[in-house]
Amino acid sequence: KIIYFVTPTYPRPEQVPELTRLAHTLMHVPRLHWIVADDQPICSEEVSNILRRTGLPYTHISSPKPFIYKGTNFPRGVANRRAALTWLQENVNDGVLYFGDDDNTVDLQLFDEIRLTKKVSMFPVGLIGDYGVSSPVVKEGKVVGFFDSWPGSRLFAVDMAGFAVNIEFLKPSANMPYIAGHEEDRFLVSLGLKMEDIEPLAANCSKILVWHTKTVKYKKPTLRLDIKKIDSVAAYKNF
Ligand code: UGA
Ligand code: MN
Repeated sequence: KIIYFVTPTYPRPEQVPELTRLAHTLMHVPRLHWIVADDQPICSEEVSNILRRTGLPYTHISSPKPFIYKGTNFPRGVANRRAALTWLQENVNDGVLYFGDDDNTVDLQLFDEIRLTKKVSMFPVGLIGDYGVSSPVVKEGKVVGFFDSWPGSRLFAVDMAGFAVNIEFLKPSANMPYIAGHEEDRFLVSLGLKMEDIEPLAANCSKILVWHTKTVKYKKPTLRLDIKKIDSVAAYKNF
């Protein structure tokens, strides 16, 4: 099966380094199609250049967020993932879907495991919330609950990076709402997922194969234009 790896991304000083790192992981993975959904009115040249150089099959989609979400506390990556879902529904009827944000860290073993997803598979994600891990709770090979520091009245208390979906299980009703913190749960509910359908991976969810890493935000230096640092000025001018 082909893995469709869906990555939302947006312009910022950390974008190129994050995508470079992720690209260098994905380049080790056979039969993977990278869908990069760009939070920009047109697909950016910086992102295109990275994609082209991977040699991977890819699709670059322009998926700007609606204007009302330009504030601070908004659901991130939703317009992007919705655009990718539409593309998948229109172009693909076989394979495995995985939502991999541009700043996460993925162990190559995860790809071997999610490729076998029959409906929906789940596994732990490291560096999440106060507990430091978000994971399904497995009893006798079945998922019976969730260990997550923010249950938030969710049926499936998982992170975006903690599950994979077989594309045959993607219904036309599949959707992701613009509700921060509830994107994963509502998406899985929209698939009609039941607890007994969940396939636990990563040795019955006892191993961490993906981490919710975050790069410290780059602080713009106060440029002292009186000193002749022309090269540094050129490097920062886009931000
Ligand atoms: C967490 C989850 O891991 C996300 O999957 C979820 O969408 C997000 O919370 C949320 O609920 O809003 P977090 O690390 O806090 O993610 O957020 P970011 O990594 O900043 O953003 C998630 C993804 O959306 C990234 O791939 C990022 O590049 C993208 N994004 C972020 C945009 O496309 N546009 C933005 O304005 C911000
Ligand atoms: Mn993130």
